[in-house]
Amino acid sequence: MSIPTKPFAPSDILLTNKVAVITGGGGGIGQGIALAFARFGADVVIADKNPEAGESTAAEVEKLGRRGVSITTDVRDFEQVQTMVDTAVKELGRIDILVNNAGGTRMSAFLELGEQGWDRHIDLNFKGLFGPTDAVAKVMIAQGEGGIIINVSSIEGTRAAPLFSVYAACKAGMLNFTRSMALELADHNIRVNAITPDVVDSPHLKLFDKHYSYLSGGEEGRRRAVPLSRACSVDEIAAPCVFLASEMGRYITGVTLPIDGGTHASSGWVRDPQGRWTLFPT
Ligand SMILES: NC(=O)c1ccc[n+]([C@@H]2O[C@H](COP(=O)([O-])OP(=O)(O)OC[C@H]3O[C@@H](n4cnc5c(N)ncnc54)[C@H](O)[C@@H]3O)[C@@H](O)[C@H]2O)c1
Repeated sequence: MSIPTKPFAPSDILLTNKVAVITGGGGGIGQGIALAFARFGADVVIADKNPEAGESTAAEVEKLGRRGVSITTDVRDFEQVQTMVDTAVKELGRIDILVNNAGGTRMSAFLELGEQGWDRHIDLNFKGLFGPTDAVAKVMIAQGEGGIIINVSSIEGTRAAPLFSVYAACKAGMLNFTRSMALELADHNIRVNAITPDVVDSPHLKLFDKHYSYLSGGEEGRRRAVPLSRACSVDEIAAPCVFLASEMGRYITGVTLPIDGGTHASSGWVRDPQGRWTLFPT
């Protein structure tokens, strides 16, 4: 296969007339990605289990001048996922981008989680990835023009996560699934990548701030623990996703991109109250 020689142009970052499906796109990070994709030219299908949230994001997409279609979907139910994908193709004609974003967790010691808790986490954060990947990849293969799948994992998939053990195991599994699928789908020019956010300012984080403030650390905690000194906005998660999904990312597949303000790099180093880096905070 020949190596392209034409240099990239600024317009290669655009997603003009691409069609993206975003699971859990009704709120938080998924909504941020949906709106950014629309601003960069894509039509967007919101596959959220919450119909009001899905419709509200779809309406925001329409305000940006792109098609926004909400198809209420629980990613844990493969029949619903297949119906969503069939409807998306019927309504918008094709699918070029899939973002597997739906997910979430609650803090719990492993020994208190029990079988129902394990299943709840696995169904949403691990199995919930397979249905959309299966159904959308088949559409992309039939279209014959490549595609991109972005899996929203977490920094917890790359480090120990006490009180989030099953969630973290699912998010780690997601990263290896990403690499395997990158190889299985490479012959179809379908690229598969993962992102690992850390502290993102989403409704989910606000819940943590409210109920587990000692863990979330508040603004002062983030100033000390995050090298870039703050939580990240959903738009700051969306921007690298636009790049990955665009023509400019066309040679990137099978990677895990941390979008974390430096916390993967700092891995245990935090600032003391005077702002000095230390391994043993007091
Ligand atoms: N917020 C963070 O700090 C953070 C950090 C790392 C990774 N993540 C990951 O990012 C993703 C999005 O997180 P968020 O913080 O935006 O969450 P959120 O709770 O703010 O939003 C999640 C959205 O997904 C939808 N959803 C939940 N279950 C669903 C299901 N079964 N099927 C379809 N839709 C469903 C919800 O209705 C909601 O609109 C998750 O996979 C999460 O694990 C979040």
